[in-house]
Amino acid sequence: MPNSYIPVITIDGPTASGKGTVAQRVAQHLGFHYLDSGALYRLTALSVMRRATPLDDEHALAKAAEHLHCHFNGAHIFLANEDVSNDIRAEEVGNLASKIAAIPTVRQALFGLQLSFRQHPGLVADGRDMGTVIFPHAGLKVFLTASVEARAQRRYKQLIDKGFSANMEDLSKDLTERDARDSNRSSAPLKAAEGAYLLDTSAMTVDQAVEQVLSWYAAAKALHTQSE
Ligand code: CDP
Repeated sequence: MPNSYIPVITIDGPTASGKGTVAQRVAQHLGFHYLDSGALYRLTALSVMRRATPLDDEHALAKAAEHLHCHFNGAHIFLANEDVSNDIRAEEVGNLASKIAAIPTVRQALFGLQLSFRQHPGLVADGRDMGTVIFPHAGLKVFLTASVEARAQRRYKQLIDKGFSANMEDLSKDLTERDARDSNRSSAPLKAAEGAYLLDTSAMTVDQAVEQVLSWYAAAKALHTQSE
């Protein structure tokens, strides 16, 4: 492989499908960088919530995304030097993130920042449009799904573990609404990229899902080396 080649693995999928956990573990295993692209939309949402930016002012929303002062340090996510790792996981922030993510100028404002995560020795990127829009030439693309019930249960556990209150009925409703909004928007809708491997994790453990992605990656890497 030429030195300039920086491999990318994309893991896209609906809300609470477990893609973040799987992507992080795969990145850790390979010693790759990790991009949580959803966190960028959540940071933008938190930033506009705090500044009470009018939600019908698309220009101001895009500006908030463009001037996002954020940085990542391991599992910690900072907005203007404040650790907001927990705050951005609140459901209201996720729901607002999904609303503003439908605005093309907001997506455009976050484009370059996402590309900058592609650094040696490689990147695992998770989100909705990693394989379709941001890294369309990724060496391995995965579309990770799970049933609404499995996803609502995972999100419930995640929220309770973080000290938020949650109830299953509201969560299932939120997930279904968010799926519909993310899939039906005209700009970068949630869908499997061409050539993506589909992985339904409803009945799988995290370890099994990680193993599957790693074995697809080993096969894709062997193929890439052969074609050099
Ligand atoms: O944690 P969860 O899967 O619910 O969401 P997330 O990955 O943190 O993303 C929050 C929201 O940002 C999603 O509902 C999407 O609408 C949006 N998003 C997006 O549009 N494109 C991405 N690449 C990542 C997230």
